[in-house]
Amino acid sequence: MSTTTTLITGIGSLVTNDPGQGAGPLGLLTDAAVVVDGGTVAWVGPAADAPAADERFDAGGRALLPGFVDSHAHLVFAGDRTAEFNARMSGQAYSAGGIRTTVAATRAASDAELEANLAGFVREAVRQGTTTIECKSGYGLTVEDEARALRIAAGYTPETTYLGAHVVAPEYAEDPAGYVELVTGEMLDACAPHARWVDVFCEKGAFDGDQARAVLTAGIEKGLTPRVHANQLTYGPGVQLAVELGAASADHCTHLTDEDVAALAGSATVATLLPGAEFSTRAEYPSGRRLLDAGAVVALSTDCNPGSSFTSSMAFCIAVAVREMGMTPDEAVWAATAGGARALRRSDVGTVAVGSRADLLLLDAPSHVHLAYRPGVPLTAAVWRAGVREV
Ligand code: NIG
Ligand code: FE
Repeated sequence: MSTTTTLITGIGSLVTNDPGQGAGPLGLLTDAAVVVDGGTVAWVGPAADAPAADERFDAGGRALLPGFVDSHAHLVFAGDRTAEFNARMSGQAYSAGGIRTTVAATRAASDAELEANLAGFVREAVRQGTTTIECKSGYGLTVEDEARALRIAAGYTPETTYLGAHVVAPEYAEDPAGYVELVTGEMLDACAPHARWVDVFCEKGAFDGDQARAVLTAGIEKGLTPRVHANQLTYGPGVQLAVELGAASADHCTHLTDEDVAALAGSATVATLLPGAEFSTRAEYPSGRRLLDAGAVVALSTDCNPGSSFTSSMAFCIAVAVREMGMTPDEAVWAATAGGARALRRSDVGTVAVGSRADLLLLDAPSHVHLAYRPGVPLTAAVWRAGVREV
């Protein structure tokens, strides 16, 4: 079957994330062109050398980069928590317990309502340049409600994560061990067919190290790969556990000891930083600089959820990472694209190289640096997902 080829030319600045292709870790090329064949990148190089194609798109000197890879989001839910946010901004502290407010609203919602909400958030993310998005369960906390969240999510992304261990379900408040038994037994059996990943909120007020280990180990035995909500609100065992179990990523990493940093740096576990959570809970930001200097791989992600981080904007995360977390614009853009791909163990996204998926973001700006330099400004000019123009 023949496919249509499109030449995107006049690219003022191209982030390839392929150091063999251009300058620095971003593999930057100027005056570049890309040929897309069907859903795949077929050619990358200087505009002057570009081959002919069926169709032509002139980028007009603007910046093109891989679509954002948002490797951590919680998008199957109903209701919002405006009042809780408002109270926090007047001085109240964030606690894991707020999750139960969203659990009640989510359980009461119909499948159609949950799907419409999810579709809306995915659309919102795509409009801002996100072309791959991970989605967790975790607001159902019954066998049926967790399984339906993942079934619905699987219609929108292959990156689905079983988070039955988000908090102890209200029905099990007096019997947390019984809830862990459910999460590692019947609930896991119902959810595993719809999930790629298993996650646990390893935190004070959620699950301790032993419980988290039980959840992750059970998931691994069912063929899921672990990722961990680790060290968000307090120091704790989450990061070490993630590294020990070979998790794809340890997410949050807000409270890290030197041993935690060293463990991440010496492992294949990506440190995924979620600045939206610190922003929205008025917490101190994690240091991207400390992790990068130690040699850890860093990803940036939105953590989009109604409680601790109600943003779907990867550009916002980049701007905060640059301004508050010691990352350079190049490092932050890498973390939001190639870093997210590493956190999802995907080699087909997060780069613009021959053979990669044609997931592309054209900015209304001459350089990727503008993502941090022009915070809050909508810079999306065009988005292609698997070669299809969506924005
Ligand atoms: O990643 N930390 C755990 N889960 C979410 C918060 C969920 C909520 O508050 O509803 C997070 O921040
Ligand atoms: Fe989260």
